[in-house]
Amino acid sequence: MDNTLLTLRNRRILLGVTGGIAAYKAAELTRRLQDQGAKIRIIMTRSATEFITPLTLQALSTNPVHLDLLNPDTESAMGHIELARWADLILIVPASANFLARLASGHSDDLLTTVCLAAECPVAVAPAMNQAMWAKPATQANQKLLVSRGVHLLGPDHGIQACGDTGAGRLLEIDRLILATSELFDSGELTGKTVMITAGPTREAIDPVRYISNHSSGKQGYALAQAALDAGARVILISGPTQLAAPDRAELVSVVSAQDMHDNVQSRLSETDIFVGVAAVADYRPKLAQNQKIKKNAANKRTLTLEFVENPDIIAEVADSVPKPFTVGFAAETENIEAYARKKLIEKKLDLIIANNVANAQIGFNSDLNETTILWQEGKVNMPTMSKRALSEKIVTIISQHIKQRI
Ligand code: C5P
Repeated sequence: MDNTLLTLRNRRILLGVTGGIAAYKAAELTRRLQDQGAKIRIIMTRSATEFITPLTLQALSTNPVHLDLLNPDTESAMGHIELARWADLILIVPASANFLARLASGHSDDLLTTVCLAAECPVAVAPAMNQAMWAKPATQANQKLLVSRGVHLLGPDHGIQACGDTGAGRLLEIDRLILATSELFDSGELTGKTVMITAGPTREAIDPVRYISNHSSGKQGYALAQAALDAGARVILISGPTQLAAPDRAELVSVVSAQDMHDNVQSRLSETDIFVGVAAVADYRPKLAQNQKIKKNAANKRTLTLEFVENPDIIAEVADSVPKPFTVGFAAETENIEAYARKKLIEKKLDLIIANNVANAQIGFNSDLNETTILWQEGKVNMPTMSKRALSEKIVTIISQHIKQRI
């Protein structure tokens, strides 16, 4: 099978293993999902431990296996709510008839059912049971109810069973399970695309202890990285110094100066389909960063003069490269916002520009909100004030629409 199912890369999959003879297949599945770059944590029901030892799955997943709902030790390490929040997907393999029944009736009397109830991420079940159990009206009613509520049903397969019967109820083959799992993440307006995002401020050294920088928080760039990941993209986040935690699945490259950011962007450009320059890059840097701390009153002077040289324009260079990624810029302006942004769009040869008013303290730098106009060669759309996260989702949609038009 395809060795590069990019959609599984860095996905956090909470694997639930319930009690059935197919439980041993969870070991192989764990390893194979990890081969595709997924991160796996495992919850076993008590009856699953009768079929395969937690130690086996712990060794394979390199994380402790979660077994109990009310164990103070495990709850303090990573409790059921944290587990539910951690997951991008809860995948139950194998799902027994009993588990389907309990999930369908909303039980929360063990760790796995409780986490399923607490989770807001998608849940997928891969049933495995004797064909007569699968065919029973009760099981059929349960699986239909679960599907009607949005639970994804993977399988079951048809064929010879462990008990000697033949019929529907076999666990899907591992290859097919992996493929089906990867398809669940394929919501993807940007599936298969690599997006490079610059974010945050840059710092331009004056001497070993001082620098020139700006008020960029990195919030918009990081929110966009998350939205691109959620749309199925692979994300390279080239970030200046910020206080933020990078989205878990982003490939973070931490940089300090504009030159540093430029060099890292250039070195990864050949991998990039879409470039979004959100960083507030310093346009100038001190011509000489002194090796030693500049002393106060050095030559008995009341003034200090620094000479600046221009930094490379990172996004303009990207937009000038061949082949050129779809290139998106930001224009932080304090006046004549739209006119300046359109000028920048043309001069820098951008495909899209997002203009915002940083003079308004309620929005822009450091705020969680943004109010923007998105412009391209033949059009524009005004975005009302919204969270940087919501704006990011809109930007992703607009990017994906433009890319589709190009093909
Ligand atoms: O020219 P100005 O700095 O206003 O342009 C803003 C856009 O250009 C942003 O997308 C920013 O990330 C990018 N930029 C850049 N390199 C620079 C200056 C700005 O990539 N040196």
